[in-house]
Amino acid sequence: MSGQPEVWRGRRVVLGVSGGIAAYKAIELCRRLVDDGAHVIPVLTEDALRFVGELTFSALASERARTSLFTTEGTPIPHTHLGQTADVVLIAPATARIIAKYAAGISDDLLSATLLATRAPVVLAPAMHTEMWEHPAVQENLATLRRRGVHIVDPESGRLAGGDVGEGRLAAPERILDAAAGVLTRNGDLAGVRVLVSAGGTREAIDPVRFIGNRSSGKMGHAVARQAAARGARVTLVTTAVPADIDGIDVVPVVSAQDMHDAILGRFDACDVVVMAAAVADFRPKAVADSKIKKSEGPPDIILEPTPDILGELGAAKQGQVLVGFAAETENVEANGGEKRVRKNLDLLVANDVSAPNAGFEVDTNQAILLDSSGASEHTPLLTKVALADVILDRVTVLIGRGSAHQDQEQR
Ligand code: PMT
Repeated sequence: MSGQPEVWRGRRVVLGVSGGIAAYKAIELCRRLVDDGAHVIPVLTEDALRFVGELTFSALASERARTSLFTTEGTPIPHTHLGQTADVVLIAPATARIIAKYAAGISDDLLSATLLATRAPVVLAPAMHTEMWEHPAVQENLATLRRRGVHIVDPESGRLAGGDVGEGRLAAPERILDAAAGVLTRNGDLAGVRVLVSAGGTREAIDPVRFIGNRSSGKMGHAVARQAAARGARVTLVTTAVPADIDGIDVVPVVSAQDMHDAILGRFDACDVVVMAAAVADFRPKAVADSKIKKSEGPPDIILEPTPDILGELGAAKQGQVLVGFAAETENVEANGGEKRVRKNLDLLVANDVSAPNAGFEVDTNQAILLDSSGASEHTPLLTKVALADVILDRVTVLIGRGSAHQDQEQR
């Protein structure tokens, strides 16, 4: 195991393996990541296949190993799919060749094309002979990549292929995994911050059997809670959908908008940040029938009344807390979101078009417009909900005075 299962569980890791003798060590990385719950997709270059077997990786990883840009199986454009759905791309070993191609923007195989098609953080663990490692061409390429926000795990000194000794040996697996975990968790930039997150769709009872509900699965809110905890926050998750495997998070199960209101308002004074990702019903039946409404009595008249506006109340009562709301929209997303941000007195509003493909309810991806109190808007690309959670939390670190807008851009 990598020793950090809470970081890796559910993460999609593209594990790139390029052609060097250290390729055999990537097998161990693959195994450890899978043991810790990561979803690992190995991508091997043609030269890597001279050192290690495709079958070995396919047997150990979460999906079969990928080796070609051109395939008739699955998606016809595997590099964009891999790049867009990855939470992190980790290349170990990274040869001088893949480093050079990445720095120059060359995409002539699946791994180099995936590198250009991803917005996920990229971690490279180079391995090569000392002379190659020290060559100005390699060092200049690495400097270029560092400037672009790529994370490099420097090699170590030791025995190299052919019996030589010197700098260039692939870093130990622990160092590589720690570095990648640090990238994913932004090195604990939310340590000690008390974050209250809501998730899921509320259910408003009509009678003991029926309710008015919505399509929220809780995935978006769970991603925010998990990412905040991974970044060191003390997280309370108020949710209608209790997730499995949510270690280190205080989970408060609720059902209705009123339950959620009471759970959140009761904890508001003791938190620093609130992220309301839940889809809270705006209306509920005014009266709840004590027993099941009989079909034989014909369609009932259900009179609705408004539920409490939780965020609205928080916005009116806040005393230094950072408030983040969502807006589920199907039209005029930016304008409607902006209006909600102002009306509810929010520091940040995440507006998503829930009618867009692969965004909004139930799916693992989302796309949003972030609106803040300066009036600025940021349109994100389609991201995994985990990656969007990190984008939101990057903004939160700035709002609580722990991060800089410039760093956040670099980390993406
Ligand atoms: O859970 P998933 O399947 O992953 O789907 C994610 C999501 C689509 C639910 C999520 O991304 C999202 O958009 N959540 C907000 C849904 C919503 O209720 O939007 P709204 O525009 O109706 O409400 C605006 C904000 O006010 C929201 O932060 C909401 O939590 C809050 N609200 C709404 C009503 C109410 N009575 N009290 C509230 O606090």
